[in-house]
Amino acid sequence: MAKKTAFITGITGQDGAYLSALLLSKGYRVTGLVRRSSTAEINDLRLRWLGIEKDVELIDGDLSDLSGLVRSIKDIRPDEIYNLGAQSFVKSSWQQPILTGHVTAMGVTNVLEAMRIEAPEARFYQASSSEMYGLIQEDMQSETTPFYPRSPYAVAKLYGHWITVNYRESFNLHASSGILFNHESPLRGIEFVTRKVTDSVARIKLGLSKELRLGNIDAKRDWGHAKDYVRAMWLMLQQDTPDDYVVATGVTTTVRDMCRIAFAHVGLDMEKHLVIDPLLFRPAEVDVLLGNPAKAKAKLGWVPEVSLDALIREMVDADLKRLKS
Ligand code: NAP
Ligand code: GDD
Repeated sequence: MAKKTAFITGITGQDGAYLSALLLSKGYRVTGLVRRSSTAEINDLRLRWLGIEKDVELIDGDLSDLSGLVRSIKDIRPDEIYNLGAQSFVKSSWQQPILTGHVTAMGVTNVLEAMRIEAPEARFYQASSSEMYGLIQEDMQSETTPFYPRSPYAVAKLYGHWITVNYRESFNLHASSGILFNHESPLRGIEFVTRKVTDSVARIKLGLSKELRLGNIDAKRDWGHAKDYVRAMWLMLQQDTPDDYVVATGVTTTVRDMCRIAFAHVGLDMEKHLVIDPLLFRPAEVDVLLGNPAKAKAKLGWVPEVSLDALIREMVDADLKRLKS
């Protein structure tokens, strides 16, 4: 069978790196969009962490630049397009709501348009988010739960989700939307709460720091491992029919209890180091997320393999190793 080609936006991010590794292991040619940066020597850090930086083809571009996307897709002729690029940090989206709209919302239409023009037979994956449920309308959120976004990021993701559904229905594109709940790994950005916690715990353990400052530790999230979640993305594009899927573990945990796992792993007392900082609270919070992955299990045969406990311990160990070296 001919080698398949994938085009990934957001290839330098957490999920882009793990998805690249997965697709390479399956024999794909992997290409991806990279933003031009004055520090180009470090923008493939995550790909290097996985040792695959030389195995992927990087193409300069930006989600806000339609003509560049059209040219890229025309040159690459991908079989599968994974749109993972986004301004993905919820807290920043209140500070940069317009940029978030341009990239996280309108960027989806740009990629879909480029695909419609140059590769209508390709298969498309949109990185939708559990943040779209926001002020939750059902205790356990599934594909049929109504959305109630609570941040400019979530509003932008909602647009991206519905434009994907609309292009599927309007133009008969093979376009699927994965509604993914929080997923983490040692490659997670330091601004997200799990990685902030595991990095701080490692620093405290090594005597490099004394405290961990957090905002709302009563918030609850359904956390899984990014490695498991990129497998679900790939499975969605292997189906004959495009569709939308919730990808989650079905278990929710407070930020407080997630921290407890990290401190306990290195034998430290959390109460001695944790400081609550009102400045870290958000203008509108998503109090609790809990996903129902029954459809992904039934139709994709997908089940998560890594528990939160194992995930946080892996992240703390990786941060200890990083800091020691
Ligand atoms: P991430 O680590 O923040 O990666 C985001 C990627 O988007 C990076 O490669 C970034 O490039 C790229 N990007 C940002 N602005 C861009 C632009 N204007 N043009 C082109 N690329 C741009 O995010 P992630 O955790 O891997 O998540 C992947 C996707 O899934 C995102 O769309 C996110 O919103 C969504 N999602 C994530 C989760 C989660 O828990 N991780 C859950 C649900 C949905 P730079 O490296 O240059 O910054
Ligand atoms: N980042 C951060 N920093 N979050 C904190 C802190 C802190 O110091 N203190 C408490 N939290 C709380 C936040 O208020 C939020 O309720 C929770 O921890 C998780 O925050 P993040 O890790 O920043 O993730 P998120 O849930 O807002 O968004 C992530 O998951 C979404 C899927 O639900 C991102 O990856 C999004 O891109 C993704 O769509």
